[in-house]
Amino acid sequence: MPKPTEPLQILIVDDHKNNLLSLHGLIDEYIDNVNVLEAESGIAALNILMKKEIDLIILDIQMPDMDGFETAEIIRSRKKTQRIPIVFLTAAYKSDEFKKRGYAIGAADYLTKPIDTPQLISKINTYLRFIQQEQQHSEYEQELEHKVQERTKELLELNRQLTQEIQERKDIESKLKTAKETAESANLAKSRFLATMSHELRTPLNAILGYSEMVKEAAVESGAEEFLPDLEKVIASGKHLLALVNDVLDISKIEAGEMILYPENFQLSELIKEVVNTMQPYIESTGNSFQVHCDPDALGERYADVTKLRQILLNLLDNAAKFTTHGTVSLTVLRRLHDSQSRLCFQISDTGIGLTSEQISNLFQLFTQIDSSSTRKYGGTGLGLVISKQFAEMMGGNITVQSTPGRGTTFCVWLPWVPKSSQASTA
Ligand SMILES: Nc1ncnc2c1ncn2[C@@H]1O[C@H](COP(=O)(O)OP(=O)(O)OP(=O)(O)O)[C@@H](O)[C@H]1O
Ligand SMILES: [Mg+2]
Repeated sequence: MPKPTEPLQILIVDDHKNNLLSLHGLIDEYIDNVNVLEAESGIAALNILMKKEIDLIILDIQMPDMDGFETAEIIRSRKKTQRIPIVFLTAAYKSDEFKKRGYAIGAADYLTKPIDTPQLISKINTYLRFIQQEQQHSEYEQELEHKVQERTKELLELNRQLTQEIQERKDIESKLKTAKETAESANLAKSRFLATMSHELRTPLNAILGYSEMVKEAAVESGAEEFLPDLEKVIASGKHLLALVNDVLDISKIEAGEMILYPENFQLSELIKEVVNTMQPYIESTGNSFQVHCDPDALGERYADVTKLRQILLNLLDNAAKFTTHGTVSLTVLRRLHDSQSRLCFQISDTGIGLTSEQISNLFQLFTQIDSSSTRKYGGTGLGLVISKQFAEMMGGNITVQSTPGRGTTFCVWLPWVPKSSQASTA
């Protein structure tokens, strides 16, 4: 928005005081918002121009010492004054030749006397409007320039902040990376330590178990049967401890990436028989019936890591038995399509306490026991399912689960359908 303008400064130059007076009077009468300064000679005009900011000069030509043309030339030659519009106003120099000279010096106009008042006023007004517009324009430009500078400053500051932020993020990322690497290597070190420790623990534990069995046999032979219940407790606890150590060893090896598969050819029916014989007494000890169904098509000679498969089946049956009383635990072996592939499927079902869908989503995680009170009630460390799942995946399969709380649970172990023949050469 244009600001209210300051009065414009008009310098009138004439060696005749009367002329100055009448011109001054005219301007004051007809033109608003101007301030008129008078000079009676070219020198006086130049003096005023040095000290004041003048917007328009009305210059007489015929003057003693320094005439209007000479004065105008000096005004034009000075940097400070060269752009001020000059209007010549003359009574004597009316010919075209002088007019030409005046315009050549750079006059904005060349008017003659006697003064044609309307013409002079209208011209002065035109110049003043033009000057005012120029002033406003230059103010506007300055303002614009100022805004551009401010904006540039803001952008530079934003840019600096952004660069700083990027740097901070990079620093955090690199710290996170280092922390992650440290954590990973610490985890690996922990897994290696546990693997070594578990291995070292097994040796004395096996000795304890072996010697306890020998003492038990000796007690039977020597008729010292009163020691048998205590010895059996020692052996049971030793076996339990060995199972735990074995689980920890398995987990450590899996985490350290050191678990290795040892696939071999084996008779599936033999494995099933062995697993059933091992688990039957335990399953039935809590009033459960144990049902086994094997699809003849699924049995036969297979190629897989039989030790790990045995461990999976024992753990799933152990769970089924642990969480079911006076119900049914079943093991079904069959060939089925899974993910549009033919698979060997081991289905372990129970009619026990079951799991909610939320509990199922937390299964297969390290040390996860669905309900911490169940740890006290049922025992266990929460490693069995993790190990089983990892083993199944290592063998190219997986484990799925379906359950209804209070009704029972079914785990399915899916393994690739690999009959002996196709692997005979690599066996
Ligand atoms: N058949 C099942 N019925 C109900 N809950 C089960 C069943 N199988 C597993 N769970 C739940 O999943 C948890 C984890 O099972 P997992 O076999 O991993 O550990 P665990 O049996 O508690 O201990 P571990 O097997 O190491 O001795 C169990 O504690 C139990 O809460
Ligand atoms: Mg278990």
